Amino acid sequence: MAMPAVEGLENVVVSTTSISEVRGQTGELLYRGYDVRELARESTFEEVVWLLWHGELPSQNELTSFKKELARNRTLPSGTGDLIDRLAAIPASPMVTLRMATSMLEIEDPCSRSIERADELKSSLQLVARFPTIVARYQRRRQGMQPVEPPPDADTATAFLTMLNGRAPTNADSHALDVLLILHADHEFNASTFTARVIAATLANVYAAVDGAIAALSGPLHGGANERVMNMLEQIGSPDRAAPYIQRLLASRQRVMGFGHRVYKTEDPRAVILRQLCQDLAQRTGDTKWYDIAAKVAEKMWNDKHLYPNVDFFSAPVQHMLGIPTDLFTLVFAISRVAGWTAHVMEQHANNRLIRPRAAYVGPAPRPYVSLSAR
Ligand code: SDX
Repeated sequence: MAMPAVEGLENVVVSTTSISEVRGQTGELLYRGYDVRELARESTFEEVVWLLWHGELPSQNELTSFKKELARNRTLPSGTGDLIDRLAAIPASPMVTLRMATSMLEIEDPCSRSIERADELKSSLQLVARFPTIVARYQRRRQGMQPVEPPPDADTATAFLTMLNGRAPTNADSHALDVLLILHADHEFNASTFTARVIAATLANVYAAVDGAIAALSGPLHGGANERVMNMLEQIGSPDRAAPYIQRLLASRQRVMGFGHRVYKTEDPRAVILRQLCQDLAQRTGDTKWYDIAAKVAEKMWNDKHLYPNVDFFSAPVQHMLGIPTDLFTLVFAISRVAGWTAHVMEQHANNRLIRPRAAYVGPAPRPYVSLSAR
C-alpha cells in the first residue's frame, strides 16, 4: 500500500547534505557551518564559492589563485557569444537565453562529458566565471551596444557591474552586490537545487543539471519572484498607496510576491540583511522612494498576514538601485546560485543513488479495452 502523498514534499527529508543548513524555526542559514550573517559581514562571494565547493574557507593563497582563475575564465567561447548576440536581437525571455547559453557552454567545454570531480570543478568554475559575462553581454547587445571585455582582475560583483554598465562601479556598489551574491549562493534543497540533484542523480553532467535548475528558478514562486516584486513596487508608485494596494491583492486571495517561505517560520535572515542594504543604498543615493514603499508593504503584510519578506523582496529594490534592469533580476540570482547548484551536483555525484519517488495512484480502476467501433 503506497504511503499517503505529501503535496509539495513539504517537510519531507529526501537526502542528506553537508553544504548548507536552513533553520526555519530560528531563522538561520549556515553554509558549511558558517552563519550567513557573518559571511555577509566578513567574507566575499569568491570565498563563499570556494567554501561551498571545498567545505572549508580558502587560505589567502587559495583565494588569490581562485580569483585569478575566475578572472581568466570570464571570456566566452565564440559559439556562446554568437548565440547570445542572436538571442538579444529577438524578444526572447532573458532566462531562456541563460539556459540556452548554458547548453552552448556545454558544447564548447571539452570536459563536459566527464562527471569526475576534477573535471566538474573545472566546468563549475567556468559556469561561475561566465554567467556574469553572459548576462552583461546579453544586456549590452539588447541596447545595441558593443559588449564590454571582462576586466582582467576584478571580482565577480565588480566584473559584472563593469561589463553591464561599461564603467567601473563604486566600491560601495560592488560591495552591495557582493553581499547580495553571498546571500543567494545556496539554500539547501530549494526547488532549483533539488531539480539539479534529480538530474545529477541520473549521472547526467553538471551542465544538464544547471540547465534544469535555471528552468526551475525562473518560476514566479521561486527565483522569478524578485522581478515581480519590482513590478509591484513600481505599480504602487508611492508609500501611501502601499497598504490599499496590498489590501486589494489579499482580498482577492492573490500571493504577494516576495513574501512567505516554505521553511522559514520566522524572518528569513537574508531578508533582514537585504533590508538594511536597501536602506543604506537608499540613503547613500538620496533616493529613498523604493525603500519607503517596500517598508510600507512589509508593514502591511506583517499586520494583515503575519508574513515576513523572503530573500526576493528587498533584493529587488537593491538590484534596481544598482542599475540592474528588472528582467535581469532572476539572472543575477542565478549568477550566485550556480555556485550552490554546482556544489550540490558534485555532492550528489560523489555518493549517488537515483532519485525516484513514488506516486499514490488515484486514476481509474483496471478496465477492459473498448474497440473503436464501440466508442
Ligand atoms: C525563493 O525554497 C527556498 O529556499 C527558496 C528560496 C531559495 O533561496 O532558494 O528561499 C528562494 O524562492 C523564495 C520564495 C519566492 N517566492 C515568492 O515570493 C512567491 C510568493 N510566495 C508564496 O507563493 C509562498 O509563500 C511560497 C511559494 C514561497 C511558499 O509556499 P507554500 O509553503 O506552499 O505556502 P502556501 O502557498 O501554501 O501558503 C500558506 C498560507 C496560505 O494561506 P491559505 O490561503 O492556505 O489560508 O500562507 C499564505 C497563503 O494564503 N501565503 C501568502 C503568501 N505566502 C503564503 N499569502 C499572500 N502572499 C504570499 N506571498
